[in-house]
Amino acid sequence: MKIGIIGSGNMGGQIGRLWGLAGHEVMFSSRNPQKLLPLIDDLEAGQVGTVANAIEFGEVILLAINYWTIKEAIEPLRNSDKIIIDLTNPYKWSEKEGLERVIEEDTSGAETLHAELKTSVIIKAFSSHSADALAKHHSNPRISVLYTCNKKEGKTVAETLIKDRDIYVCFMEKDRTWTKPINLGDPVNTSANEGVPSISPDGKYMFFGREEQDGTGNIYWVSTEIIEQVRPAD
Ligand SMILES: NC(=O)c1ccc[n+]([C@@H]2O[C@H](COP(=O)([O-])OP(=O)(O)OC[C@H]3O[C@@H](n4cnc5c(N)ncnc54)[C@H](OP(=O)(O)O)[C@@H]3O)[C@@H](O)[C@H]2O)c1
Repeated sequence: MKIGIIGSGNMGGQIGRLWGLAGHEVMFSSRNPQKLLPLIDDLEAGQVGTVANAIEFGEVILLAINYWTIKEAIEPLRNSDKIIIDLTNPYKWSEKEGLERVIEEDTSGAETLHAELKTSVIIKAFSSHSADALAKHHSNPRISVLYTCNKKEGKTVAETLIKDRDIYVCFMEKDRTWTKPINLGDPVNTSANEGVPSISPDGKYMFFGREEQDGTGNIYWVSTEIIEQVRPAD
């Protein structure tokens, strides 16, 4: 999927990287794009650009900006066919006042956004998770992400981007540090969700599970030679 990230700070930077590592094409944006280059260092299909570039690029747009800038940021999204994922919370932080709500108590950030972008597909997700928790999403137990969406066509996109998972491998270097995770690629990883890998006691086979989009699942095996094929050259 092509995803434009609007607001590449704690949340946008973290989630955008997870999607990039999962094989999606991601463009991070900033008012100063050059400072985002470290975010795409190890991504195969990562780019940086201005907010306008990211909106043009993405079929899906992640809104991860400070809430008080939202009106300005969504202006180019009016009447567009982009699918929007909104994780903003309607609060601002000040040293003096702490967390301060910036909209009335009897409405919500989601409701306010829907009123502004009446024709858009809008998914609300991730807003109750901290950036740190998302970074540790592989931990056990895995985190649960609730989402809501105003139109049926957004449901598949939301579930794909929340659940999307592939199998990666890390190799130990000579100095006993680990390489970055490397995607095992085809034929292990597909557009479905792969996980729970285990190696047979003789080291010859890797077994893994795959959950299809329709919720059905199965167990598969491949020769562990597939792991050697992605080992980086010395
Ligand atoms: N932090 C969390 O753990 C957490 C958890 C759940 C939800 N949230 C929500 O997520 C949203 C982002 O929080 P955050 O902690 O990621 O904030 P952050 O680290 O401050 O990042 C916000 C980004 O928004 C960009 N931005 C600011 N003004 C902008 C404008 N006028 N146009 C375009 N981009 C603009 C900034 O990018 P540039 O300065 O580079 O342009 C900045 O990198 C907030 O609504 C927050 O309530 C945060």
